[in-house]
Amino acid sequence: MNKILVSLLLTLGITGLAQAAGDAAAGQGKVVVCGACHGADGNSAAPNFPKLAGQGERYLLKQLNDIKSGTRPVVEMTGLLDSLSDQDLADISAYYASQKMSVGAADPKLVARGEALFRGGKLNEGMPACTGCHSPDGAGLDAAGFPQIGGQHAGYVAKQLTDFREGNRTNDGDSMIMRGIAAKLSNKDIEAVSSFIQGLH
Ligand code: HEC
Ligand code: HEC
Repeated sequence: MNKILVSLLLTLGITGLAQAAGDAAAGQGKVVVCGACHGADGNSAAPNFPKLAGQGERYLLKQLNDIKSGTRPVVEMTGLLDSLSDQDLADISAYYASQKMSVGAADPKLVARGEALFRGGKLNEGMPACTGCHSPDGAGLDAAGFPQIGGQHAGYVAKQLTDFREGNRTNDGDSMIMRGIAAKLSNKDIEAVSSFIQGLH
């Protein structure tokens, strides 16, 4: 695990994308159309639309570039980013990063199993704990491209883990870090850890 993490950090550090500095105030004026699904401040109401508020700036910018290029297909956003420049995407990322992600609640029946997976992983199967990258409170580590997941909608988290496992989301890099992890999770594991994450802060 530490070996994986260190090599990932090195890769990210050395190849770190040169990015335009985002202007959060300018970004606020560019997200009106996004609010219909993601909420005006980035805290979406529906569980299939991810919360963007408080998400790491670097992670957001990577996802926007991946969605725009089709590396990460999001049908609901088809065409929406086509007319946005690199500066627009940087400003939008800065805006959402400056907001605060709201926290949901975990299902009490699923907490024990979800927390054990989140904090302990499945060491016998070589699956590291989520805490190693997404941190114990789920805040992530944006400098390394690890997204915040604490407080995120369980429905969205479960869909991402399933998509990584089934190969429907493949933008986690050559190290295939999330695809490797999700491959070790059963449907019941995903339900429990996603519920736990929704209440985590
Ligand atoms: C019609 C609804 C809709 C609109 C409008 C929309 N999105 Fe999305 N967006 C989605 C959905 C659905 C997903 C997640 C898809 C999936 O399950 O992978 C998503 C994912 C994202 C993600 C990835 C989040 C993450 O945690 O990885 C970002 C960033 C994002 N949208 C930004 C935007 C921005 C910026 C706009 C406005 C320019 C926008 N979206 C407009 C529906 C929408
Ligand atoms: C070695 C580091 C590492 C570990 C351990 C790890 N992750 Fe991740 N995770 C990542 C990275 C990097 C990404 C972002 C991939 C990308 O750029 O699209 C990510 C993305 C995610 C996402 C998508 C977030 C979003 O907003 O779309 C979820 C959900 C997630 N991880 C959950 C987990 C869970 C649950 C565990 C533990 C079972 C876990 N991760 C363990 C590195 C890690």
